[in-house]
Parts: sequence; structure tokens; C-alpha cells
Amino acid sequence: MTISTFSFLVLGIACIINTVHGEPFTDGFISIDCGISSAAAYNDSITNIPYVSDDQFINTGVKANISASFFSSSLARQLSTLRSFPGGSRSCYLLNVTQGQKYLVRAIFMYGNYDGRNRASVGNPLRFDLYLDYNLWKIVKLTGAAEVHRPEAIFVASAHTVSVCLIKTGTGIPFISVLELRPLDRNMYPYTNESQSVALTYRYNVMPTTNSSIRFPPDAYDRIWEPVTWHSDWDMISTTCSVRSNWSDYFRPPSAVMQTAATPSTNSSKLHFQFDYVNMDALVNQFYFIFHFSELLPNTKREFNIYLNDQFWYANYSPPHLVAGNVHNTVPSSDGLHYYRWSLDSSGVSPLPPILNALEVYTPMYHTNVPTDSVDVDAITTIMGQYQLKKNWIGDPCAPKGYAWDGLNCSYTSNSTSIETVNLSSSALAGAISDSFGRFTRIKYLDLSYNNLTGKLPKVLGTLSSLEVLNLTGNNLNGSVPDSLLQKSQNGSLILILEGNPNLVCTKGTSCDPTTDIRKAKKIPTLTIVAVCVLLPVVLLLVALYIRLRIKAKGLANNCLRVEMEVDRQSQLLQFENRTFTSQELITITNNFQRVIGKGGSGVVYHGYMEDGTQVAVKKLSQKSSQGTNEFIAEVQHLLRIHHKNLVSMVGYCMEGDYQALIYEYMVQGTLQDHIRGKIHSAIAFDWGKRLQIAIEAAQGLEYLHYGCKPPLVHRDVKTANILLSERLEAKIADFGLSKAIQNYDEASDIMTMTVVGTIGYLDPNYHSTFQLSEKSDVYSFGVVLLELITAEPPILEGMPDAEVHIRERVEERLKTRKIEEIVDSKLENKCDISSIRKAVDLAFRCTSRILQERPSMGNVITDLRESLQLQSISFRGNENLQMGSDEVSQNSAQEMEQLASSCPSAR
Ligand SMILES: *[C@@H]1O[C@H](CO)[C@@H](O)[C@H](O)[C@H]1NC(C)=O
Ligand SMILES: *[C@@H]1O[C@H](CO)[C@@H](O)[C@H](O)[C@H]1NC(C)=O
Repeated sequence: MTISTFSFLVLGIACIINTVHGEPFTDGFISIDCGISSAAAYNDSITNIPYVSDDQFINTGVKANISASFFSSSLARQLSTLRSFPGGSRSCYLLNVTQGQKYLVRAIFMYGNYDGRNRASVGNPLRFDLYLDYNLWKIVKLTGAAEVHRPEAIFVASAHTVSVCLIKTGTGIPFISVLELRPLDRNMYPYTNESQSVALTYRYNVMPTTNSSIRFPPDAYDRIWEPVTWHSDWDMISTTCSVRSNWSDYFRPPSAVMQTAATPSTNSSKLHFQFDYVNMDALVNQFYFIFHFSELLPNTKREFNIYLNDQFWYANYSPPHLVAGNVHNTVPSSDGLHYYRWSLDSSGVSPLPPILNALEVYTPMYHTNVPTDSVDVDAITTIMGQYQLKKNWIGDPCAPKGYAWDGLNCSYTSNSTSIETVNLSSSALAGAISDSFGRFTRIKYLDLSYNNLTGKLPKVLGTLSSLEVLNLTGNNLNGSVPDSLLQKSQNGSLILILEGNPNLVCTKGTSCDPTTDIRKAKKIPTLTIVAVCVLLPVVLLLVALYIRLRIKAKGLANNCLRVEMEVDRQSQLLQFENRTFTSQELITITNNFQRVIGKGGSGVVYHGYMEDGTQVAVKKLSQKSSQGTNEFIAEVQHLLRIHHKNLVSMVGYCMEGDYQALIYEYMVQGTLQDHIRGKIHSAIAFDWGKRLQIAIEAAQGLEYLHYGCKPPLVHRDVKTANILLSERLEAKIADFGLSKAIQNYDEASDIMTMTVVGTIGYLDPNYHSTFQLSEKSDVYSFGVVLLELITAEPPILEGMPDAEVHIRERVEERLKTRKIEEIVDSKLENKCDISSIRKAVDLAFRCTSRILQERPSMGNVITDLRESLQLQSISFRGNENLQMGSDEVSQNSAQEMEQLASSCPSAR
């Protein structure tokens, strides 16, 4: 506790009468009237402070006027307009400041029913958060349309700019009416410094002469002193003489505020007043109190004690005559009190009672966030400047937690915050890739897809040690991919997505873009490609129509036959890459089996590059076997002919000595299981519509196996780990037919094996009694997949007390006591339509029924899933781009045509 009093003896009678000399001194003031037009700058009629539009301080939000019924001539002009932020969850103003300077900052809010929706009421306040840089400053809470909320803070600028951010934390749409910044002198409010800011709780002019508040110009710092008369039995004493503030005074209250004071009425020697923490609207129960005193009567001495909750707080204080004096604490009161009951009582030395001229109360603003690593801030700021990004990227990139800059995701630990994802997909970035992308300290995901980036891939990207995914799809990059990146991609630490950069060279002078690649590699003249591309679909269409008509004419409504014939045609005409590989080729392709991308019952899967740069997955079969069984080869060759957009295509196989391997197209985005369980950072995890779309696609793949193939193919091992995702997150079923082939094969070699029949948790329970698997077994497994999509839980919880309980029973059990929305994966954050979920749960239950007849066909599954998706899309727009087939049959054949046509670029 310190005291600064300056005895100033006024010898003589005359005193200085308070006058304002000359023009008010507004240097360094920033005064923003939010929502006025750029050209509408003006000087306030009372304070003469110049106000400007907020256009130059923010690039987001919507201007609005308050409703006419709240407008009046006595209303401060600044309050009649505002800017609201219905769009973003984080909207920031950026103000230029002088580093090291102390400032007072004030934001003013008056709702005024600007949107005509009466959103602010006592029962339902309009609420959002206000941040000063990365610190929570105030929770704005408006309980009426005419209410004016004026949060204020004192801080020391730690940089050349300061941000004021409005954060939409709930349903309340943030807005702001006024933003003001005032420089303070360095020695004022001494407990504020670069690491400690304070927020205003109260600033009172006790016993005023008028009902209006006092601010600039009487207060040179434009603090607002609210008039207050707490007790009817207080008397006022006042003077017309000016009350000086010494230059070394920490608080410098304006004379106009100090010229009046309260004193108890004649029959009392005490001044009492009380603050309750619950009403103080502070973020913490810790307060700095400042009592301002000045003796206003000549030739008078009074002395009093100050008590807080009946305890001595300050003893024997004697206010200086016509000079501002004060008593304040330098460490905030934090005794965990729920109320602060003040009492000023005469010490007995003087017969005169105590006085009180003014009072301020502040609360410390504690760091609610760790600021983002400065290296990251520098990098992203440089990038923003280089590409002239038009984003509301203001303030700390990651703070407040959970409200990072649009396009960024951050990781937060107790002592560090860093940028984890930079997503500038489709952000119209043009020119070279900035070296600054290589400066992030802990970045994991960098998505620069679909921009106009040109030039070489900077080597520095290879130095990002935590980078897991680099997506550069759809740019126009050239040159060769740095070895460091290729190596990481080969050894599995980095997913490198380079499609759609025809001039980018991956290995041995070949393009990274598989489509352009093949053309180049095979040296097919462009004209041929064009001719083939244009003519082939037409020919295929005619062939297909012809076959179809013939089948119809013959009355053979045999879907399998039709498709089989089409597939045969297709493979004859197009000659898919159903080739055999030698073991030596496999070693080259997989770089000696370096990068494992998966392990299954039937073998280990490796990543590889074909000689033309196409990525492939090589599955080395683990089954022990004798040499080349014809049956196995026949089966594999059958599989090689199966092509559907929701089935992972096999491109070849190897049967040579120890190397028995199958070569598949590579699925960049990995397994569905990794997406749902969070191993891969993915949009699917957070979006029910996307999950349904994946389910539909997977179901289409299965349906094709069941009804499009002759003989029908039972997958036998449907699970989320066997649903793979393409670069564009399309689902494809993997590993189909294989288990059967291997089983046959093993039978032939007299080894009975069960390892490849199903996976525990997904396997049809009927299998244990019948040892037979049918299409309905796949339907069962698919039902489990569906439950997994809904809950994000594995079929069997390992290591849990209820470990043996299957997902179906768990969900069923929970639904007995809980609502359907409570069983849904929490990552979906209520962004799912309940009837859509209910439909999906119901479908999953029917699929996983023990009674085979109750299980739907995959065709029915698709229909139900589409309906479920429709429900979701209606409730949550944003999935409009999903195709909703009204007529399934016509859509199916359209798909097949599309498939045939799209296979064109692979033509040799
Ligand atoms: C607000 O009112 C002014 C004056 O009536 C008008 O010119 C302006 O267009 C209004 N602004 C909005 C956003 O409605
Ligand atoms: C980046 O954003 C786009 C859409 O804006 C989205 O499709 C993509 O998945 C995002 N990438 C990452 C890595 O989050």
C-alpha cells in the first residue's frame, strides 16, 4: 500500500479557477465510430474529438444503424451506428500503437435492436467475448437494447499493433459501436506493464454536481467518470477552485471530478459503501481500489481511517488541500471475499468527518492464452503480406484457444502455442511458394491445393520435421520435387499429394501427375488421346446400349451378365494394367519394400512408385504356399477385371518364388478407420454428411460385388480398415475377393486356414455355427461399419471393463436410457440431423440382425443411406453438391458409363 499526497499550502484566499485553455490536446487518440461510411469523419459536438469510420481498421463485418425507436437527439452520435459480425466466429480490429506506450482502450456497445430481432433481454442476454490481443478482456453481456456497455482496459503495448477481437462464443452475433484508444503517461497506473493489463470495473465521480459523466476535455486522458450518489444521507461539499494533480501523481483525476466530494451528513462520522463481487462483472475476484481525496475547504484538516470489511486498510489519512491525493493498493485484494464493505471513519484527531471525491476499481487481466510462437507468427504474417491475402487475419494467429485464424489450426500446450495446420486451399495464391512456408516450427498439415502457385518446390519444405501432409494439388508447379520430400514420402512420414501439376517432375524425369504421366511415358500423340477420349465413350456407350437392348430383348434381366460382359469388353478394349510383375520389379517399385502402409491378415502392404511415377500399393502375401496354382491365378485374373469407382482396382500381380504379391492403385487418404478414430486429421471426422456419403460409396462398391459380378463375390472382410479413401475422399472397398482366392488356394495346397475369414467384431456371428458366409454376412459387417461411423467407437473395446460387449449391444443398451443424440460421436458436435442419425441407427440394427431375413440387401442399404443423407442435407446445407439419385437404376448405369469414359486416360 502506498500513498501519494502532496501537501500544498494555499497561503492566501484566492485560488485558480478551473478553465480550459486553448484547443483540446488529442494527439495519439484513435477514435473509431464503427459502422459509419468512410467519408463521414466528424468532430464530436461535445468533446470535439475527431471520429473516423472503422473501414480502415477492419475488413469484415456488416454496417448497421440502430433501430429508429432507440435513436434520440440526446444519444451520443457514435452509438447510432455499429458493425456486426454475423459471419465469422472471430472478428478483429487492428490498431497501430507505439511499442512500450501505456494506453487506455475502450470499446462501446449499444445493441439498439439494429437487426429488429430484439436479441437482448434480461432473460436472454446478448453475449459474446471481447479480447485484447490474446487476453480475454470482458464477457460482453447486454440485457436490453438501450443498455450501453463500455469495457475499458489499461495496457502497455508490447508491439507496434494491438488487436481487439470479438469472439462469437454462443448464439449472440457480436457487434461493436465505438472503439477508442487513448495514450496515458508512463508513470500512471504503475501496476500495469507489458505483462500486466487491467480492466476497468468502476470509475465514479462521487457526489457530482450534474447527472452527466465527465470525460474529455476535463479529463485529458478521456477517462469516463460516472456520476454516483450512493446515499441520500450524504452531503456534498464542493469548490469552484481548481484541484491540481501533481505531475508525479499516478492517477491524475480531473479537477472537475475532484471539485466535489461526499461527506456524511451531520449526525454521522462515517462513510459506508459496499461492492458485491457477484455484481462487479469481473473475470476474477481480485481488485485494485483507488480512492481519490482532496480537501476542498480552506484552512481545514481532517484525518480518517479506511476499513475494509471492518479491518484496518489505511490509517490516519489526511487529504491535501486542493491537490489530488489518493490511497490505493498495489497488489490486488484477493482474499476470496464475496463483498467489499468499505468504511471511512474519522480517526478522532479532527472533529471533521471523512470525505470521498472519486473512486476507481480495476481488476487484473490474466493471460488466458499463451501467445503463438513468434517464429510462426512471423512466418504466417510474411505469407499474408506476400500473397496479399484478404482475410481477417488480425491479432494472435492461434489465440484465443479454439478461435485461430480462419484456415489455421493450432496446438496448445501449457507453455507453448504453435501453428499445426495451414490450409490455404483455393485461396487464389499466385506466384512462387514462399520460403516462409518452411519456417513453421511444428506444422503438420500444409494444404496449398487449388491455387495458381508456379515455379519450383522450395527445398526448405523438406526441413519441416513435423510435416505429415503436404497437399499441392491443382497448381502449376514445375521443376523436380526435392529429394528430401520424396524420401519422407517413401519412408511413410509424409503424405505428399502432387496431382494436377503436369510440369512437376517426381522421379527419373517423369511427371508427378499420373494422368499426364502416362501420356508422356507412352508417348501417345495428343491427337490419339483426344480421338480416343472423344470416340471411345461413344463406342462404349453404343456397345453397352446394344448389349443392354439384347439382354432386354431376350428377357434376360440378368444384371450380373450385363456387367460382366461390359467389363469384358472394357478390358479387351482398354487393356487395363493387368500385368504380371517380376520380383525384381517389385523391389524397384517399392524401393526394397521400404515403406509399410498397412498390415492385414493376408499380408503386408507397401507403398511404391511405378516406373512412370504412379503411386501403387503392393501387397505381399504372407500365406505359405507351393508354386503357382492355376486356381489362384484364375481368381486373381478375375479380380483384375473388376472395375468400379467404389472398388480399389488391382493393377497386377506377381507369382514368383517368395514374391507373391498383388499390386493395387494407391489410395492417398488411407483408411476410413484412421479418419474416424482421429489418426488422420480429416473433415470426415467432423461432418455427418461426409460420413454418410462415404457409407453410400462403400455400399455401392459392395453392391457391385454382390450383384454386378458373376458369380457374386462375397467380400468376407468388410471393415473400416478395408474402406480406403482417394485423394478427393471418395470411398473404395479394398481387399475384395482376395480372401476367397487365398482360401481356395490354401485348400488346394491342403492347408486349412481361417485367418483370412473376417475380422473379430465385424464377422457375422452366424458364421460360428454355419461356417458359411454369404452376401448377408457382408451386410452384417457393413452394419458394424455404420455403427462405427455414428459413434466413432471400435466394434470391440479393447482393454475396457466391458471389453467383450459388441458395438451393437453397447448402442442398444445406451439407447434404453439415453437420447439418440447422446450416443453420437461427440466430434460431430450436434451438427447432425437427429432423424438422419435415427434412420442410420435403425438401418445399422437391421443390418446386424441375427436373423438373416431381416438384413436388407446392399441395394436397400444404399436407398436408406441416401434418404438419411437427404435428411441431413436439408437440415445442414453445405452438402448440396452431393448427388441424390432419384432413380437408382438410371443412376447406376450412368455411373457405369462414366466409369468407362473416365478410364480413357489409362489407355495405352
Ligand atoms: C444508416 O442511416 C443513414 C442515414 O439515414 C443511411 O444513409 C445509411 O445508409 C444507413 N446505413 C445502413 C447500413 O442502413
Ligand atoms: C482445407 O480446406 C478445404 C476447404 O476449404 C478442405 O476441403 C480441405 O480438406 C482442407 N484441408 C485440410 C488439410 O484440412
